[in-house]
Amino acid sequence: MCYDMPLSIRMRRVPATFLPPIALDYSAKTPMYRQLYDWFRLAIVTGQMRPGQRLPSTRSLATELKISRIPVSNAYDQLLAEGYLETFIGAGTCVARSIPDDTLSPLAGKRQKELQQTVEKVGPRRMSRRGMALTQLPTQSWLNIVGAFRVSLPALDHFPIGVWSRLVARHSRRPARGIMAYGDAMGCLPLREAIAEYLGAVRAVRCQASQIMVTTGSQQGLHLSAQVLLDPKDRVWIEEPGYPSARQAFIGAGAQLIPIPVDHEGIKVAEAIRRGHNARAVYITPSHQYPLGMTMSATRRMLLLNWAVRTGAWIIEDDYDSEYRFGSRPIASLQGLDTDARVIYVGTFSKVMFPALRIGYLVVPKDLVPAFSAARDAADVFSATLYQSVLADFIGEGHFARHIRRMRMLYAERRKALVKAIRVQLGDVFEVIGAEAGMHLVAMLPPGVNDVALSRKAAQRGISATPLSACYLNPPGRGGLILGYGGTNAQEIHDGICKLKMCV
Ligand SMILES: Cc1ncc(COP(=O)(O)O)c(C=O)c1O
Repeated sequence: MCYDMPLSIRMRRVPATFLPPIALDYSAKTPMYRQLYDWFRLAIVTGQMRPGQRLPSTRSLATELKISRIPVSNAYDQLLAEGYLETFIGAGTCVARSIPDDTLSPLAGKRQKELQQTVEKVGPRRMSRRGMALTQLPTQSWLNIVGAFRVSLPALDHFPIGVWSRLVARHSRRPARGIMAYGDAMGCLPLREAIAEYLGAVRAVRCQASQIMVTTGSQQGLHLSAQVLLDPKDRVWIEEPGYPSARQAFIGAGAQLIPIPVDHEGIKVAEAIRRGHNARAVYITPSHQYPLGMTMSATRRMLLLNWAVRTGAWIIEDDYDSEYRFGSRPIASLQGLDTDARVIYVGTFSKVMFPALRIGYLVVPKDLVPAFSAARDAADVFSATLYQSVLADFIGEGHFARHIRRMRMLYAERRKALVKAIRVQLGDVFEVIGAEAGMHLVAMLPPGVNDVALSRKAAQRGISATPLSACYLNPPGRGGLILGYGGTNAQEIHDGICKLKMCV
């Protein structure tokens, strides 16, 4: 069958297709054209080749198979005559769109059934304990909507995308060997130097560029820390409530999580020590506790550092959004107080740039650099070099500092608008906490209100309100909603709170 296509489609050049993995038996008695015919027919009726899928040209397939074009043309002609293929002028040969379902389904269905039966016969297949533990972690799939209040989302429409695209184009036009070949597991030196300078100046982190590892976001930083520092069954203190994705990283390493409650001064170190909870590591968010938002006090910081030195434990400090403080100066990092190199500092560009960039970093104690570097090599070798180079220029040319300054003002306005909307619309139904920094706050619910049920209800109205209880390991006393305002503008904040009110 041969159809005419609209002129606009006919004018386009036919793009090259992938060559199918056909293995011809050159010594067999079956002629070449028949082997080709059989292969394509089976691929079509079993669904391996889908209706509408393009076939390679006879020339390229003949070249690939090192045979003449004649058997390929003969096989295609036969399949065309039998209705398995169709051709469009200017678009080449495709699997027919109109292959009847009953031609496709019996074989494809039979295959599927056989596979299913095999799986059922062997029962649940063996996975690692870590794999099992990961699948048992709760998920909140209903929150996967880009609605108002989605946490961790910056103001994407305020990102200087013009500047960024220019820098991407600059690096892509004259691609140096450096951005196309294999790179360093620790990252590109210019970016590591820029990060070290930034952290020293703004976060009082004490480090050299040689200690910085560029990662694909904080999550990889946590994952690598768990890989390098923990053995299966090692105990890790985590904040209660805390960051759920950190739990995943430690559970994935086979660690045992010990939830330690937080109060207005951060993680209750003395209580953990008093209860005799030994641990190999502790995960904390001291600058801006996730999700409740308090800052860890100086006394608790010193207590934690002393405990780590005494017991040889590691402190994993996640400093995920400390750039955004509204009422006060940024809080210095815990790493800057550490005199015994016990802190692994985890940072990210997800909030200050955009999450899809997937660039973060670790500041690793000097003696651990070879181990972290080897772990990275074993994981995914290194981060995409193009974007590391672009980001180094973005920081070096001052765009980064400017963007943060502008976003700090914008988020302060959005936070004010959200607090006001909650007060005006909901009176004292919600108790707002943790609104002094970052890109989210927590609205505590009246006792007895189920935050998961409310979050699900809100999602049906297009609102992404994360239930606070998802951040707890033990059942919490009171529910709440974590509301992100970074990526939610004033109008969306107003409308979103109106919708939430209806759900309450
Ligand atoms: C506590 C915490 N750490 C880290 C991150 C950032 O993670 P990533 O850098 O993997 O995007 C987030 C973002 O949601 C967070 O809330």
